[in-house]
Amino acid sequence: MVELLPSILSADFAHLADQVAAAERGGGTVIHVDVMDGHFVPNITLGPPVVKSLRKATALPLDCHLMIENADQFIPAFADAGADWVSVHFEASRHLHRSLELIAQLGMKPAVVLNPATGVEAIREILPMVHHVLVMSVNPGFGGQKFIEFSLDKIRQLAKMRQELGLAFRIEVDGGVAHDTVARIVQAGADLLVAGNAVFGAGQPERDARTLLAAAREAANE
Ligand code: DX5
Ligand code: ZN
Repeated sequence: MVELLPSILSADFAHLADQVAAAERGGGTVIHVDVMDGHFVPNITLGPPVVKSLRKATALPLDCHLMIENADQFIPAFADAGADWVSVHFEASRHLHRSLELIAQLGMKPAVVLNPATGVEAIREILPMVHHVLVMSVNPGFGGQKFIEFSLDKIRQLAKMRQELGLAFRIEVDGGVAHDTVARIVQAGADLLVAGNAVFGAGQPERDARTLLAAAREAANE
């Protein structure tokens, strides 16, 4: 079952609750929250206080994508704020196994994120620990970038590994998910689709979430 995860990075932050509600009416089922620290990625966004406010504004699960260094130091604050899913970057983690255990111990769903240049084999050993793998299909830091085509191969490889290993983790894709790419992304095997610009960029989140999700479902034969 494919799901759409509107990414609030491209939303109007002065009207966040309304924007999230509109994306939910359009079919979004998980809210994707991009946390950037200005060190791991060249941009700064938001932290636990915004997650805490979002928690009161929506009943949907909050998927916190941590693009930060020293994630372990901040993971408990995201748990307290009401995060449901927390993903950490392979490239930012010195002790990935420990970070994933910490997330799970705090009652959240752990996930690992791969930058475009990181191969899927790097995470084979920890795949049994994760709720999902997030494949970055742009370099993290900004919304509205162009989809990197070889990400499709990584999605296919992950789907194959999942089958070989008898696992059930989900495959999430983030970056450049839009009307012209979504069918190929779904057909490659992804089922959690993050979209920022394609949902919020034109100021019509309900309408644009609905049409993007419809295109994804059609590609998945759902
Ligand atoms: C980028 C973020 C994404 C971003 C995607 O670093 O992780 O979640 O919102 O933006 P679009 O969908 O516009 O490519
Ligand atoms: Zn993201």
